[in-house]
Amino acid sequence: MSTPNPWTVVPAADYERHMGPDGVNQLAPLAQIFQEVYLATQPDRVLLLGCATGNGLEHVDPSVTHRIVGVDVNLQYLGIARQRFFHLGPKLELFCSEASAWRGAPGSFDLVHAALVFEYLYPEVLVRKIAEWLADGGTCSVVLQLPGGAGPEAPSKAMRIIEKAMKLVPPDELVRLFETYRIPLRRQRTVPLPFGKSFWVGIFGREVPAK
Ligand SMILES: C[S@@+](CC[C@H](N)C(=O)[O-])C[C@H]1O[C@@H](n2cnc3c(N)ncnc32)[C@H](O)[C@@H]1O
Repeated sequence: MSTPNPWTVVPAADYERHMGPDGVNQLAPLAQIFQEVYLATQPDRVLLLGCATGNGLEHVDPSVTHRIVGVDVNLQYLGIARQRFFHLGPKLELFCSEASAWRGAPGSFDLVHAALVFEYLYPEVLVRKIAEWLADGGTCSVVLQLPGGAGPEAPSKAMRIIEKAMKLVPPDELVRLFETYRIPLRRQRTVPLPFGKSFWVGIFGREVPAK
């Protein structure tokens, strides 16, 4: 039997305190990374893996995007996301599920965004699923935590367990996995963060097959 995902028991208040301006201050940079890829791709259908309480969803324009799916293991986070983004109505679908176990139709998303979630699962399994879900011509954006830096101590025992459970994923390893499915890396950059930490952002794109 596999161990339960420790994220299922981290209260939203602890999570947002740790990630917000009084903690490691990563919510704003994460929302900005999503905004940039969203504006560049203008997706009809978007999938957010590890969507938490919906950080970044404020940038979604419902006149551009007709289907917004968020997947997360923590049901409380999804309840908060639903309340905060009530105006998105039925266009916003939220699923409480392990990302790799979620069932989506093949080729059904133009943008898949996976920010700080690869660190908590088996990357090869999720890349295989993303390759299935991504439409021809679709984009997948990934945010990984890079090694280095040290922030303030996590505010709760549950968050400290999460920090221990996190397994850094080397960007090169992820690039190789996506290449296996013919989804090459288009762009990459490093985003510096407070406390000497940094993110790697990789934008992967699947080509439209020639007719
Ligand atoms: C660091 S937060 C993600 C931040 C968020 N993507 C953003 O841009 O602000 C990690 C999220 O992934 C979720 N998570 C962790 N492991 C997961 C898994 N195996 N499947 C789905 N969600 C997962 C957690 O519950 C948490 O909400």
